[in-house]
Amino acid sequence: MEFKTHKEPSCPVFQNVKNLNTMQLTTISPSKPRNGAINALQKEDLPIHGWYRFVLSYPPHLVRQYMSAFGLTRGDLLLDPFCGTGTTLVEARKHSIASVGCDAHPFAALVSRVKTNWALDPKLLKHHLSRILRRGETLMLKHGLASLSLDSKLFQELAKLDRNGYTLTEDEERLLPTGFLSHRPLQRLLILRDEIEAELERRPPAYREFFLVSLSCVVANGAGNFAFGPEIYRTKPKSDYDVLGHFARHTHQMITDLAKIRTAITNPARCEVFGSDARELSGVPGDISAVITSPPYPNEKDYTRTTRVESIIVGLLRDRQSLRQVKESLLRSNTRNIFVEDADSDEVSEFKSIQTVCKQIEHRRIELKKDSGFERLYHKVVAHYFGGMRRHLRALRPKLRRGAPLAYVVGDQLSFLMVPVATAKLLAEVAAAEGFKTIGCDLWRERVGTKIRNSPTNEKTVRVKEEILLLQKA
Ligand SMILES: C[S@@+](CC[C@H](N)C(=O)[O-])C[C@H]1O[C@@H](n2cnc3c(N)ncnc32)[C@H](O)[C@@H]1O
Repeated sequence: MEFKTHKEPSCPVFQNVKNLNTMQLTTISPSKPRNGAINALQKEDLPIHGWYRFVLSYPPHLVRQYMSAFGLTRGDLLLDPFCGTGTTLVEARKHSIASVGCDAHPFAALVSRVKTNWALDPKLLKHHLSRILRRGETLMLKHGLASLSLDSKLFQELAKLDRNGYTLTEDEERLLPTGFLSHRPLQRLLILRDEIEAELERRPPAYREFFLVSLSCVVANGAGNFAFGPEIYRTKPKSDYDVLGHFARHTHQMITDLAKIRTAITNPARCEVFGSDARELSGVPGDISAVITSPPYPNEKDYTRTTRVESIIVGLLRDRQSLRQVKESLLRSNTRNIFVEDADSDEVSEFKSIQTVCKQIEHRRIELKKDSGFERLYHKVVAHYFGGMRRHLRALRPKLRRGAPLAYVVGDQLSFLMVPVATAKLLAEVAAAEGFKTIGCDLWRERVGTKIRNSPTNEKTVRVKEEILLLQKA
């Protein structure tokens, strides 16, 4: 499959939304992404957004387009109920629009909190950074981690002599996908993690979190042996990595960004992040004037795996039980987070269109004699997914102002034995049942796949759309 073309959201819908909304258009100017780079972070968006960027993030320019289309201003309250690593929230803050975010994954909530907390003192952060680096370097020297050029055989000898305690617990090791982190980079990361904890023990937790997000970026963008394409996969193992240098440069950049934004925006709009399940939205305030979000799609992406290594390093996943708790709080969107007691599918039992897709998947599985435990769950994922989204929309409705516009970025899927799942279309039906009307559906991008083997329709090519479903509280 490859991305072939994209269209920018079509103007008629924009117009439509503007007319439905009595609010004034702000001065936010929607930027025009180049063809092929529609989902990439634009250079001018690097400050803050670049502190840690989730591989499944959407770009800030998409958020700008819809903040503009919805005519959001300072008096509004924008919600992202699946906020991930905070793209919507950071963009809202940059444009002085109050916002609320919610993500059930503790790592995503941590990153969103850090990226939207502009109250930390840059001078104090610099002071702590230099102490962490000094102590970190001393400890690395002490534990035979000075030179990046030591060959790994020699290092193994040293490591035997020096059981320095910088290791994961057995439980943490069990959670780490095999080969995703080599021994020496891991030790360097753990030394820094401990130093961050010790150095900031007496400061408010936000200071500690700031440095932990920087360390996570080092894990994801250098120290780890993994990459995305688009699924997470293992890369060639690195015998070592300059964790200290990367951490120093990245944290310094974060402090510089923070100092600049604090000078540019002296009285930022409020922003709150909740670590709640969007199917319940507990704690999330009412009087929301708009939603811009991207929930998971019904496919085989395991959100706990995408950020697994970082979550372990910063201490958010410690054992199988904590991993299971996180999985249970997420929308069911893949076979790795389906549990026997799940009942979200009951919410959509009367939707003929959804039931038909589920039946097609199960029928196809039997036809192809696919019999593994995971394959048997495919049709259930789809039903639980739309049931969970229905619960989300039900919890959301009373929190919205009358006429509030909503933008949901969702992708069609073929992950389940190539049976098409028209996510936006089916979600629109579910939304109608919960008191929302569809006011548009903009094409965001389109993948064109060729030579589909095992396609139920025997088509040579197939188009898979990622769309922005536009709803309004009826
Ligand atoms: C596609 S990502 C959102 C990315 C985000 N737009 C960004 O730019 O970073 C979907 C997010 O939904 C979160 N999520 C999944 N199930 C959830 C639930 N039940 N409640 C809240 N968040 C959930 C995942 O943890 C993930 O961070």
